[in-house]
Amino acid sequence: MAIERTFSILKPDATRRNLTGAINAVFEKNGLSIVAQKRVQLTKAQAEGFYAVHSERSFFGELVSFMISGPVVLQVLQGENAMAKNRELMGATDPKKAEAGTIRADFAESIEANSVHGSDSLDNAKTEISYFFAETEIVA
Ligand code: PPS
Repeated sequence: MAIERTFSILKPDATRRNLTGAINAVFEKNGLSIVAQKRVQLTKAQAEGFYAVHSERSFFGELVSFMISGPVVLQVLQGENAMAKNRELMGATDPKKAEAGTIRADFAESIEANSVHGSDSLDNAKTEISYFFAETEIVA
């Protein structure tokens, strides 16, 4: 299986509840290495740009407001099949629909405050990583 990189965000509901370590432990226990990580306060412009693909959706305003409501942790995860593995570990967007044992089932508060973001394709992973990280900040 290929060694891949994917992009992850620990969202404001996770940092507010001090869940950074607990969620990172899930990644590391499941073979994903955190090869870049920074805790930041996103600006409105950064959040709008990152989620531009969802700009026509009814919840876009709420999504952007939520993502700038507190610090987030931006990450690059690396490992075998990292993109799909991370999506599996995260579980469904809506925690009510997420499988037991997934990060969202265990930690998320709602469809909005759902603790984590993970790239949904390798192409998007590349784009999302380069939106926030310089290649020199990623150390494998
Ligand atoms: S996905 O993973 O792209 O298939 O999920 P999707 O359902 O398309 O949702 C895309 C992102 O929008 C967030 N979302 C919402 N935010 C606020 N309110 C509502 N109702 C809502 N529904 C979906 C969802 O958490 C996804 O965020 P990311 O950061 O991409 O996981």
